[in-house]
Amino acid sequence: MNDKQAVALEAASYVKNDMIVGLGTGSTANYFIDALAERQRTEKLRITTVASSNISMIKAQSAGLTVLSLSQLSQIDLYVDGADEITPDNALLKGRGYDLVMEKLLAKAAKQFIVVADKSKLVSRIGENFAIPIEVMPFAWQAAKRSLEAIGGVGELRQNVAKDGLSITSYGSLVLDMRFDASLDADRLNALINNIPGVVEHGIFAKLASTILIADQGQIETRV
Ligand code: 5RP
Repeated sequence: MNDKQAVALEAASYVKNDMIVGLGTGSTANYFIDALAERQRTEKLRITTVASSNISMIKAQSAGLTVLSLSQLSQIDLYVDGADEITPDNALLKGRGYDLVMEKLLAKAAKQFIVVADKSKLVSRIGENFAIPIEVMPFAWQAAKRSLEAIGGVGELRQNVAKDGLSITSYGSLVLDMRFDASLDADRLNALINNIPGVVEHGIFAKLASTILIADQGQIETRV
C-alpha cells in the first residue's frame, strides 16, 4: 500500500453511518472514494455523497456510491480532499485540477474538512512549488491579470495539455497561474486575491482545514 492509499484509508475510518460526505478530486481523493465504497460494501455503511468534480462524481457512482448535487443538500458532515501544498500553519494550495469553485464550497460548507496527503506536499510557504491557480471570468481575464500584476503577480493563462488551446474549468472559467513574492504569506495573498474583480476563485485555502492527515512511509501524522 502506498502513502496516498494509507492516508485515504485512515480518512475513511472517520466516516460514520448517515453522514453526508464530500468527495475531493485527484489521486489521493480517488483512493478515499475506493475506501469509502469498500466500507459501504463490506460494512453496509449508510452514506450519501456530494462530489467536487464531474470526474469524482463518475468515479463514485461507478463504485456504487449515491451522489447528490450540492443544491439538494443543506449541510455536509465531512469533506475529504487532497492538496498540492501544505504550510506549517495548515494553509493549503489546491487546484491543480479545474474544480476550485466546488472544492472551496465543499471545504467551507463541511462541518469537518480532512486533508489527505503524503509528505511530498509539505512546504515552508504557499507557492513554494507551484504557481497559485486563479480562476477568472473569460471576459475579464486581462483586467484581472493587470490587478494581480499590481500586487506583484507574474504569470500566464494556463494552456491545455496539448498546448494548442486554453484550459477551461468545469464551469467555463479560464485559469491564471500566478507566482508572487515570497514575503506574501497565505493569509495576505488570500485577502488580496479575494478583493480582485473578475476573480471567480483561487487555490489558497486558508484556515479551512480542520484535520490534516500526512503519510510518510506508512506512518500517519494527524494535525488538528
Ligand atoms: C485538485 C486538487 C488535488 O486535491 C491536488 O492536486 C492533489 O492531488 P493528488 O492527490 O493527485 O496529489 O487540489 O484540484
